Amino acid sequence: MKKVAIITGASSGMGKEFVLTLDNYLNVDEIWAVARSKAALEDLKKMVNTEVRAIPMDLTDQECFFKMQELLEEEKPDVRLLINASGFGIFDSTNDMKMADAEGMVDLNCKAIVKMTKLALPYMYEGARIMNIASMAAFQPTPYMNVYSASRHLC
Ligand SMILES: NC(=O)c1ccc[n+]([C@@H]2O[C@H](COP(=O)([O-])OP(=O)(O)OC[C@H]3O[C@@H](n4cnc5c(N)ncnc54)[C@H](OP(=O)(O)O)[C@@H]3O)[C@@H](O)[C@H]2O)c1
Repeated sequence: MKKVAIITGASSGMGKEFVLTLDNYLNVDEIWAVARSKAALEDLKKMVNTEVRAIPMDLTDQECFFKMQELLEEEKPDVRLLINASGFGIFDSTNDMKMADAEGMVDLNCKAIVKMTKLALPYMYEGARIMNIASMAAFQPTPYMNVYSASRHLC
């Protein structure tokens, strides 16, 4: 059974750093790198020794979870690690914030984490780990971080 680590938000920021850092520590056959930017995910392949599978998908799009489910059913991997590091924040008054941005934060910062975790769990065995990246903003009131903070509190 192929051992894999699934890392979302792998195209930049913390998700990418997890890929680069864990390359030296993880005993896995493949890192499944998830984000929208295919080019950035492909670039990762040149930066690490571990095999990287680029999985370009928009985690606010329900369709992508069907694709991920299919991939998991096909490969039946041993998922040793899931890191949910994708996320974004728009900081504005609730009144002025676009509905699409508010919805997007809930979809990506909360719902995608729940869905990825639900999909991966049947393929995770003893000793496997899940890491969800939240934010200190989840625990303190901060001006203009209304929907963002709530979305991070829920995750
Ligand atoms: N940086 C901080 O100081 C900090 C502190 C506390 C909490 N956080 C939380 O951690 C998250 C990640 O932080 P970061 O600094 O690593 O941010 P980042 O550099 O902006 O990385 C965000 C990652 O999420 C991916 N992403 C965004 N929208 C997506 C979508 N619709 N579908 C799939 N992937 C998507 C991005 O890739 P694509 O654009 O290629 O899709 C990127 O890989 C933040 O959003 C925040 O919630 C960050």
